[in-house]
Amino acid sequence: MPPTDSLPLPSNEASPHLELTRPDDWHLHLRDGEMLGRVVPYTARVFGRAVVMPNLSPPVATTAAAEQYAERIRSHVPAGSRFRPLMTLYLTESLSPEEVARAAASPDVVGVKLYPKGATTNSADGVEGLDALESVLVAMEKAGLPLLIHGEVTETSTDVFDRECRFLESTLAPLVERHEGLRVVFEHITTKEAAEYVMSAPPRVAATITPQHLLLNRNAIFEGGLRPHLYCLPVLKREEDREALVAAAISGDPSFFLGTDSAPHTRETKEASCGCAGIFSAPVAIEAYAEAFARAGALGRLEGFASHFGADYYGLPRNEEKIRLERADWIGPERDGEGDSAVEIFWAGSPFQYKLAD
Ligand code: DOR
Ligand code: ZN
Repeated sequence: MPPTDSLPLPSNEASPHLELTRPDDWHLHLRDGEMLGRVVPYTARVFGRAVVMPNLSPPVATTAAAEQYAERIRSHVPAGSRFRPLMTLYLTESLSPEEVARAAASPDVVGVKLYPKGATTNSADGVEGLDALESVLVAMEKAGLPLLIHGEVTETSTDVFDRECRFLESTLAPLVERHEGLRVVFEHITTKEAAEYVMSAPPRVAATITPQHLLLNRNAIFEGGLRPHLYCLPVLKREEDREALVAAAISGDPSFFLGTDSAPHTRETKEASCGCAGIFSAPVAIEAYAEAFARAGALGRLEGFASHFGADYYGLPRNEEKIRLERADWIGPERDGEGDSAVEIFWAGSPFQYKLAD
């Protein structure tokens, strides 16, 4: 897609503050139980809506389960916030076309999430191939229900840094071609190839981009020692990939929008001999994106990416409220909670240039 937002880029220097339409997070993990209550307020403070991932254990695989999960999420939204969770169904081999129709008719559900089996956290119930799912994909195409894809192959023989590109060639691009009406969100893209593909694909194909993939490359995982809190999947890639993602995010191309992939794991499960993948960015997410856009001299493009393009893609109204980011030098908070059950926050101890005003 050519950029539709072709306004000149206002310069950063002279902006003491930025006012934005309230943003939405188009890719978020909230968990359940105690953790749900801990993390919902961080997202509800900033974002109007969030697309909530279904990789609980057991997975959220039916419309009824998604609606019940939405209710549990809503029960943790602080008074005064109008935050609304948007739910997804976990694509398993037992999903039926009838269930797709029920999902499409539910006011809570906005998509179906595809995890290749074994690709990431709680993906054991994911799919091994798409052949058995033709009728489900046709039903989604008919209903206009987007397929949200974790795009990585899972063969352990494939280099971990190449798994997204291999998935794009072997599965995602052929799927988009085979199903001419299927709406596809290529989630948390991490490579130059993925960004180029989405740019040249039809408008029914979009992508989310996380703050960590805009701000860091894979060197960060090994800087001065192993940094488990910077391990997520798909893993951070090369500097040239990061640069391509920044170029896509600031391009004004409406196919790219904000999706944090904020994914809380406790310290004991991250700082372990086999640590979990996931970066918890919700408490500083909008500031982290502002940091990436400010560094690129493109703050004038943040609102489209953070607040307009995702809503447009999902056919939902843009939020009416505004938020304000103030120019301020401050240091990111370290963690939520204490001890083994603490969750480390992205960008802990590092400087930000913008801060959300209360
Ligand atoms: O790093 C990740 N964490 N990537 C995913 O795809 C899942 C997520 C999680 O649920 O922890
Ligand atoms: Zn995710």
